[in-house]
Amino acid sequence: MATNRTFTMIKPDAVQDGHTGAILADIEKGGFRIVALKKVLLTPERAGKFYEVHKERPFYNDLVKYMSSGPIVAAILEQDNAVTAFRELIGATNPAQAAEGTIRKKYAKSIEANAVHGSDSDENAEIEGSFFFGADERF
Ligand code: TYD
Repeated sequence: MATNRTFTMIKPDAVQDGHTGAILADIEKGGFRIVALKKVLLTPERAGKFYEVHKERPFYNDLVKYMSSGPIVAAILEQDNAVTAFRELIGATNPAQAAEGTIRKKYAKSIEANAVHGSDSDENAEIEGSFFFGADERF
């Protein structure tokens, strides 16, 4: 059964370009409740650990460098069927293929600098949320 939480990060260039507030507003307008929220600078080691599942992919090293190039905003979000609903709200990985009105369509610059992360399963949502937030940081 689907849990009702997912995990997201607003990625470095979207934060740097001043889109944090607009993206959080889109998320809340999309029906999500913000359970946890923080701005943090990932070291290359931490970014590498977060994306460990992609270690063998050709884009891994560049992705780690990019994700540690500036602060990100991490959040746990809540809504029924959160993982699926959030992936619909953000759109396709490649912004060129993202549907009109999605967060990636509006704010992503490229397949790498694609504005936001969204967990791809309930299991990963829990793992990723726990990577950033303790039990006393979720409300
Ligand atoms: P992936 O899990 O395939 O996409 P999503 O974020 O939509 O779940 O990939 C993880 C991240 O890796 C993606 O958000 C951006 C980066 N990436 C690249 O830089 N190049 C690529 O060719 C792909 C597929 C992903």
